[in-house]
Amino acid sequence: MSEKPRRVRKAVLPAAGLGTRFLPATKAQPKEMLPVVDKPLIQYVVEECVASGIDNIIIVTGRGKNAIEDHFDSSPELEHFLQSKGKCELAKLVHDIGNMVTFSYTRQKEPLGLGHAVLVAKELVGNEPFAVLLGDVIIPGPRPATQQLVEIYESTGKGAIAVEEVPRAKTGLYGIVDVEPSNPSSANSRLLKIRDLVEKPNPADAPSNLAVTGRYLLPPEVFDCLERTKPGRGGEIQLTDALRLLAQESGLYAYNYEGKSYDAGDKLGFLKATVEIGLENKEFGNEFREYLRELKV
Ligand code: G1P
Repeated sequence: MSEKPRRVRKAVLPAAGLGTRFLPATKAQPKEMLPVVDKPLIQYVVEECVASGIDNIIIVTGRGKNAIEDHFDSSPELEHFLQSKGKCELAKLVHDIGNMVTFSYTRQKEPLGLGHAVLVAKELVGNEPFAVLLGDVIIPGPRPATQQLVEIYESTGKGAIAVEEVPRAKTGLYGIVDVEPSNPSSANSRLLKIRDLVEKPNPADAPSNLAVTGRYLLPPEVFDCLERTKPGRGGEIQLTDALRLLAQESGLYAYNYEGKSYDAGDKLGFLKATVEIGLENKEFGNEFREYLRELKV
């Protein structure tokens, strides 16, 4: 890639999954709409995009996901009702949700895998770099993981994916990267060059314990890789398999990002996110802390 890297304006949020890890809560509502404290999961992810300078969000939905579109739509009746009761701050809060960025929606008609969900967004993304954020992973904090990846893309012109260390026994839950230092003399030891990736390997076969977190910054060339990717693990078109091709053909970085992620699509991960984000809450965080102390568990 000889051209100057373009500004990253777009993000794809795959949200077509069935949420089977969270049944029965997700039987009739999208897992992306499960609230952590006072916001649905997908709003945390949208706010991470906004804080990372992205202004165009493409959400890949499926059947039964209408609540997501409604959440980011305007709600004149609700706003009017809140104003008439003098609850102007709440009315503004509701109004602002739909005006953070431009939203577009497209549908994944069949559950053919994460790679396929990203490919469905090809026409809406066009020929420019874009971020991918998985909706069940939330990474709160002052320095968004996506922004860290944007900075790498904009300085190197190459794709980058966020990784973090996981216990070796858990490699079978994640995409795992095989890496080498990007530049041994570089001060930024968090930046690694990807040699290969493997989706959900057994611990004995895992090339490292660095797991793909669910934040990706990809050049448009990845669509060509996705089109050539055959069904892999679980019979699905895996994003990880397309990234193997991208790493070989164009180069790809792994970034051991600064921050802490919660897998809120998992019941225990969701509880941890709720407790830790609840503790940070300005309105009742201190009272909640007292309550947890009293429990003496
Ligand atoms: C997906 C990806 C995997 C990644 C994980 C992060 O798996 O396929 O590579 O490590 O998200 O949460 P899923 O959790 O959707 O099975």
